[in-house]
Amino acid sequence: MSTFSVRPLLDGRSLPMLLQSDDTDAPLGGALPMLRDTVDRHLIGCGGVVFRGFSLDGPDAFRAFAAAFGHPLLTYEFGSTPRSKVTAGVYTSTEYPPHQHIPLHNEQAYTRDWPMKIWFYCMQPAQEGGETPIADSRAIHRDMPQAIRERFAEKGVMYVRNYGNGLDVDWQDVFGTESKAEVEIYCAAHDIDCEWKDDGELRTRQICQGTARHPVTGEWVWFNQAHLFHVSNLEAEVRESLLDVVGDEMELPRNVFYGDGSPIEDETLATVRGVLDAHKIVFPWQAGDVVMLDNMLTAHARSPFKGPRKVIVAMAEPNHQR
Ligand SMILES: [Fe+2]
Repeated sequence: MSTFSVRPLLDGRSLPMLLQSDDTDAPLGGALPMLRDTVDRHLIGCGGVVFRGFSLDGPDAFRAFAAAFGHPLLTYEFGSTPRSKVTAGVYTSTEYPPHQHIPLHNEQAYTRDWPMKIWFYCMQPAQEGGETPIADSRAIHRDMPQAIRERFAEKGVMYVRNYGNGLDVDWQDVFGTESKAEVEIYCAAHDIDCEWKDDGELRTRQICQGTARHPVTGEWVWFNQAHLFHVSNLEAEVRESLLDVVGDEMELPRNVFYGDGSPIEDETLATVRGVLDAHKIVFPWQAGDVVMLDNMLTAHARSPFKGPRKVIVAMAEPNHQR
């Protein structure tokens, strides 16, 4: 009978909790019944766990492990970034160039349908960097200046996306179809406003939550991607040249406003980014690690890296915000 130990991965922090096997041959999937209560408790408690020292044999075993929690794995519909499918329900982590930081975010917090659970499996750590930093979304909500927190909670956030045109992901990839009618059906079912422009390209608009309440714990979390979608996320020169090309803030590949359509101030988002950064928790990957997060309680990011890196992702348990 194999055993495992439980302790915080980092001294002085409860997030993430480390579940370490005492037997390196123990398959992670086979250990799940033994681990399950501990996982459930700590996912709600601290928001995330790291499985280390178990054996896990590739993407299919990873998919089976994630699916064994009892919810079908989700496809990456209405995604915002380029990814490839590894196997059913399993994707590469976002394929942005290695030198780029991906800021802290909760997966699909730019929609009203998001996964409650997300798993990352590190098949190959980068030679340098490439961590998946995480952060406590309850603490971020608590530490956000009250005026900002209330404004986001009351007004919500409107995401505007313009697809294709060589500037962003094509709508065919985002919606996984070549059919405009299917896009319209998907959008209607998900409270997304969609509009075909004169050039045949698509614009969507969706008003979403700025903060959200966890369905199990009842706690409030900071839950939006305004800091990622806002034009201030671009470097100044990129912002200028992109605006020159498209001519109008509504034509940018992606941008974000308050839910009433009013602009979100650059300074507000600078403050938001500061609070997020102050909560960032960074730890190195080891080959074979699996990180499991409650996607509402814990945000994640990606550090820049050098050398090859392979981290794959699965998500499950859709939650819908009305
Ligand atoms: Fe992500």
